[in-house]
Amino acid sequence: MKFASLNPKDNSITVAIVGCGGFIGSHLLQAVLERTCWRVFAVDLESYRIQQHLSNPRLEFLCADLADPLVVERIAKFPVVVNLAAICVPSRYMSEAAAVIRSNYDHPARLADACAKSGSWLIHFSTSEIYGKTLADSGLLDEDSADITLGGVGASRWSYATAKLLAERYMAGLSNLDWTVVRPFNFVGPFMDFMPGVDGEGIPRVLANFSSALVRGEPIKLVNGGVAKRTFTSVHDAVDFIFCLFANPEAACGQAFNVGNPDNEISIAELARLMTEIFAEVKGISVAEIPVTQMVDGVEYYGVGYEDSLRRMPSVQKAERLVGFRALTPLRDVLRESLTWFAEHYGIVAE
Ligand code: UGA
Repeated sequence: MKFASLNPKDNSITVAIVGCGGFIGSHLLQAVLERTCWRVFAVDLESYRIQQHLSNPRLEFLCADLADPLVVERIAKFPVVVNLAAICVPSRYMSEAAAVIRSNYDHPARLADACAKSGSWLIHFSTSEIYGKTLADSGLLDEDSADITLGGVGASRWSYATAKLLAERYMAGLSNLDWTVVRPFNFVGPFMDFMPGVDGEGIPRVLANFSSALVRGEPIKLVNGGVAKRTFTSVHDAVDFIFCLFANPEAACGQAFNVGNPDNEISIAELARLMTEIFAEVKGISVAEIPVTQMVDGVEYYGVGYEDSLRRMPSVQKAERLVGFRALTPLRDVLRESLTWFAEHYGIVAE
């Protein structure tokens, strides 16, 4: 690793952010422009979330993706590369498994090869889903010692996790690559995913889908009784974590990190109740005016091959010990922020 730390005041640094126009990327870009003097080389196929920055002289935006080998070579010329690009919506893992594997294994592996050759530090976003089919009574998931069970080839839900896990192993296996792997535990916040039929098609992840239903006055759909649990993490905490990496490259290099908030564990059924309550507060209406939640079967809703993780509880000791990070935003705060944003951003469309 060639950096002791990345000085925020050093205006000779350029960070490449792949997937910069997405949910996490747009928040990261904003923070880099606000907190540092660095330049950003941003790559994405979409840019509507970062429109306000496109004229910033410190930003170069390239509308492209990692399918193009010339783009990969160009990205790897920069000393620090953050890769957030991925198909990462569960509703697509069954019907588009081949594309999911290309996006989550082939493209990152090609980028890893290029970074190994150029000497760039690759910060690669993997997923909490690599822990697989965790059960309701599964305990803390430790980055380096958890056992991993994925479903069989017919259980295509695991196409994404399989590809992400292989990409991690590939990066760790490249002896001359400076790599860091980040495993997000359900990051949520403004700009997450899309509203179906407005700026995307299909089923977004749970926070965006529940928010869309609430804004439209439609029933929230609870998959398999909503018994699965998740630990939701504010995207602002996630961005702070990336800055902890930037400040500690040597400690972060060659490591995989869980990034999650164990204090925010909740079942999906409880999440539906809490989001309904907060949405009613935000809109100044009574909970009784919001349609009653509907139960749906997972396979009918998402398609054949859908399975679920029942509990995903991160061990967060390693991030604290090696780079001094702990997620702090309480669930209620992040849900209120997200729901207020969804209501304002999509409210007019829904009316
Ligand atoms: C997600 C994605 O696979 C990954 O992109 C990502 O790394 C990770 O988890 C994350 O967001 O950090 P998952 O948590 O299963 O997987 O994604 P969601 O679609 O948000 O589903 C969460 C839970 O809510 C599941 O039990 C799902 O069945 C349920 N759900 C989802 C509903 O009950 N109703 C809905 O409308 C949507």
